[in-house]
Amino acid sequence: MPDTALVKPGSRGHRILSVASAPDLTGRSALVTGASGGIGGAIARALHGQGCDVLLHGRRSDVLEELAGELGIPAAVAVADLADAGEVARLAERAKDVDILVANAGLPGTGDLADYTLGDADRVLDVNLRSAIHLTHALLPGMLERGRGNLVYISSIAGKTPAVGASLYAATKFGLRGFALALHEDLRERPVGVSAIFPGFIADAGLWGDTGLALPPGSGRLRTPDDVAAGVLEAIATNKAEIDVAPVLQRSGGWLTGFAPRLVAASIRAGGGERISKALAEAQRGKR
Ligand SMILES: NC(=O)c1ccc[n+]([C@@H]2O[C@H](COP(=O)([O-])OP(=O)(O)OC[C@H]3O[C@@H](n4cnc5c(N)ncnc54)[C@H](OP(=O)(O)O)[C@@H]3O)[C@@H](O)[C@H]2O)c1
Repeated sequence: MPDTALVKPGSRGHRILSVASAPDLTGRSALVTGASGGIGGAIARALHGQGCDVLLHGRRSDVLEELAGELGIPAAVAVADLADAGEVARLAERAKDVDILVANAGLPGTGDLADYTLGDADRVLDVNLRSAIHLTHALLPGMLERGRGNLVYISSIAGKTPAVGASLYAATKFGLRGFALALHEDLRERPVGVSAIFPGFIADAGLWGDTGLALPPGSGRLRTPDDVAAGVLEAIATNKAEIDVAPVLQRSGGWLTGFAPRLVAASIRAGGGERISKALAEAQRGKR
């Protein structure tokens, strides 16, 4: 029996699977991009815990090898810079037989656009969006031919709301949302599931957690990398098109943006959004 302990019934913020309905992934295989990061590591552990063979992608080979050692899968490391289309193609070739793609790797893309060189801006687009599309283009035909597969994209609540001070990041995360929603429809009668996950600010590790910044009181309990991983398992089990992993305040911004984007932007500003986004961009400058 696969270990289902990582699907925490106590977690909140998206519809959590009951432990009994967590997917048995024995005999299946997955590529997790950005497995060297806070959220990607949790996703890789969760998939592996369900019996899945996982190919761990990232750039920091030492971190990937440590994770592979922890999971007992020493050969399952794939290093590739997703800003380089040639390296993405080589990664796709290595992963061509996987049943599951979790396109998770991402750069922050925070701060004013004017602070970016065009090269830095392109890197955010390439890593966060283009690489996910290229990997899908390469892996989807094999999944369709084998008659099974799941494509899971890690977007962000910033892919549903007018994020203040993060126009590049928002462009990629809205882009992933559009791509995933449209692909979900295109494949609705085919045996390949397509889901997008929308984490809010994630505590403990990752792009937000690593900064040590705090949100104002009343922002709700921040979700963790394990909560995002539970969302990925839920996506694989249910083929839901969209799964939010965030407190209700952040999720409600996503729901309301379709009706009143400027109202949502105003409420983000009123809640200190500009101050937080400036501090975030400064803290993440080294990751551009
Ligand atoms: N943390 C949050 O609050 C939050 C909220 C919403 C959405 N998300 C999304 O969740 C995903 C994971 O983020 P995280 O928080 O886990 O961040 P993280 O800890 O910084 O991890 C980012 C991952 O992306 C990889 N990556 C970055 N640039 C790359 C490149 N050029 N080529 C290949 N890999 C690259 C990193 O690999 P190396 O470190 O090995 O280079 C790392 O594994 C991202 O898509 C992010 O946008 C995060």
